[in-house]
Amino acid sequence: MTHLFWYPGYDIQLENMVRADNCHLYDSDGKKYIDLESGVWCTSVGHGNSRILRVLMEQSKRISHAGFVYSSRIVEDSAKEILSLVGFDGGRCVFLCSGSEAVEYGVRVAQTICERPLLMTMTDSYFGAYGSASKKEENEWFCFDWEGCTDCPVSKSCDEDCERWAAIPRDRIGGFLFEPGSSSGLVRFPPVKLIQSIVRTLKENDGLILANEVTTGVGRTGAWFGYQHYGISPDVVAMGKGIGNGYPVSVTAFAPGAIGRLPDEPVKYAQSHQNDPLGAAVAREVIRIVEEEGLIERSRNIGAVLADGLEGIRTRTCKIEEVRARGMMIALEMKDDAEGSFADRTQRELAHRGFVLARRPGLNVLRIDPPLTIEQGDIERFLETLEDVLVELG
Ligand SMILES: Cc1ncc(COP(=O)(O)O)c(C=O)c1O
Repeated sequence: MTHLFWYPGYDIQLENMVRADNCHLYDSDGKKYIDLESGVWCTSVGHGNSRILRVLMEQSKRISHAGFVYSSRIVEDSAKEILSLVGFDGGRCVFLCSGSEAVEYGVRVAQTICERPLLMTMTDSYFGAYGSASKKEENEWFCFDWEGCTDCPVSKSCDEDCERWAAIPRDRIGGFLFEPGSSSGLVRFPPVKLIQSIVRTLKENDGLILANEVTTGVGRTGAWFGYQHYGISPDVVAMGKGIGNGYPVSVTAFAPGAIGRLPDEPVKYAQSHQNDPLGAAVAREVIRIVEEEGLIERSRNIGAVLADGLEGIRTRTCKIEEVRARGMMIALEMKDDAEGSFADRTQRELAHRGFVLARRPGLNVLRIDPPLTIEQGDIERFLETLEDVLVELG
């Protein structure tokens, strides 16, 4: 693989994958692997899903790409279904290609609408490869460090008695970009009380609430969207990854109230594949599969089996510091040195034995985010193998 640039820090551990089927990957020697990371959270309804393959084929035969001056019915229909799913009937959405784009588009709209200069987010959130949200510059962003909020002893909502809360420059903040759980690969879920307090306070001042559902959306956390665990109603929802099941489509959806605050002209965001029929058709089919095949409930149920099994392994092996789990969004924080070498060895040994997990280099966290369609038998095989590996690596 000498003709490609790869993201620095990641070694290619498995060479030459030639085919994939639901949550199984096969290399050129015919060796089978169980994909427990969904190709970075993307293959929500499984690799090579037959319904998605059919839509890709049929829509491509009709029309896959459109220019800026023509559209087709499928894009409108898909937008309508997505808006209805997020409870934004009468709102609008845009189809783009990556999660980074979907977030960036939402941020540009927010920056157009909001009168106050800053958007708020958490210090540990990750929004994409480029743009304002990826840079989080001080003149545009206020980043809140919620580290100390996880074990807050106060049960009532956040207020001025808390130094951390009092330091938020609320009069300068026009909106909140909320990421309900990815935490730059650490998979940490911010406390409900904190998020509800931020949302309530900002909404009192006409603040705009954006939910980044690029990783947490489409059933990953056992609900359609990660923000639903917080009892909040965002104005903007950015979706990516799982909404395309590996096909590069993303969506930013806007509630009617947010649209009503836009000036006459929409945001200027030139992109050749904006509102392409093929991406729109794939996104609509993913949503229908999740709905019709009961994958939200499955995500909750299989996620619970996984989390229980992992807790058992944590207790028996004493090699895992913490299991963090919400639906099928799971992370194991390993008992480890700072460089994450035990996590690294564990990941490599699991790959050798046919299980693909995700890990950001340097972190002692292993992520488990299988397709929502994973079979329980594969989960059981994984749990047995993980326990053996942890014991053997000592
Ligand atoms: C939480 C979160 N938001 C946004 C993105 C950006 O998505 P993409 O890589 O598809 O541009 C990522 C990518 O990993 C992510 O983890």
